[in-house]
Amino acid sequence: MAIWTLLMNRAMADTFMPEQGTEIAKSVDNLYAFLLVVSFISCAILIGGMIYFAMKYKRKTANDKTAYITHDTRLEVLWSVVPLIIFMVVFAWGWVVFHDMRTMPADALEIQVTGKQWAWTAEYKNGVKSVDIVVPVNRNVKIVLASEDVLHSFYVPSFRIKMDAIPGRYTNLWFNATKLGEFHVFCAEYCGTTHSGMITRLKVVSQEDFDKWLTSESEIGTLPIAERGRKYFQTRACASCHNVDNPAAKVGPSLYQLYGKEEALIEGGTAKVDDNYLRESIMDPQAKHVVGFPKPSPMPSFQGQLSESELAALIEYIKGLK
Ligand code: CUA
Repeated sequence: MAIWTLLMNRAMADTFMPEQGTEIAKSVDNLYAFLLVVSFISCAILIGGMIYFAMKYKRKTANDKTAYITHDTRLEVLWSVVPLIIFMVVFAWGWVVFHDMRTMPADALEIQVTGKQWAWTAEYKNGVKSVDIVVPVNRNVKIVLASEDVLHSFYVPSFRIKMDAIPGRYTNLWFNATKLGEFHVFCAEYCGTTHSGMITRLKVVSQEDFDKWLTSESEIGTLPIAERGRKYFQTRACASCHNVDNPAAKVGPSLYQLYGKEEALIEGGTAKVDDNYLRESIMDPQAKHVVGFPKPSPMPSFQGQLSESELAALIEYIKGLK
């Protein structure tokens, strides 16, 4: 078993699977490697046997008679019981790994992660919000998932963990990252236009760096207003639809040098981009539609989700994009 684990882990980690960032990843890969090897052996026996018998018992002369065999009890028992044993092994093995995955450790660091079209936001116990999910290494972390709109699925391939984020209820998963570094979080449930862009970084850092990061993030309230706006812009994932450093449109209009412009509206006429226009566009995106963009707008409303102070900071940040 030990040799199997060693060999398979190397093979799986180096060849076809993403880097193994947790112990669970190794257990999953072991089981997967076992399935793969058993399948290859079965395939070789089945296809090899078929070819061998086809050649061996090929009719050689016109009078060649095929032996008349109706059944063989020993053989039938053998080919039923052996696969049954293999399947039961796979079932029990899978059960153990799945049980490990689904049993939340009581001492875990809890992080609230919310999926929203089209970004993940992490929220820590001390109120810090972040688009990057930062966790300490070698520590049990529990992710409590929620969704603000539609089904999403939180997937970290390197950790071999995945869980749906479902509107109207909490779901959860846990991991213990054993490697420092950055890992990808994907959305694994089709959720609309920018589903494929719903990617977040999961940073595994030392406990010391984690504490430092958490403290510095919690001091966000003392930043200059436009700087705070930039932070909210990141945490609310505005950048997934709006450019800020060039005039090219993404899903929504670029915000680069937008302030003060006259925008042509689908509704007719124009609107000047001032504080109230930006406010309205964030709080009630269906109020006005700029020519060249879809109506109704795919932009979600932030009514009730941003405080006046946060909104003001965002607008201040947008004003400064020159
Ligand atoms: Cu969120 Cu796909």
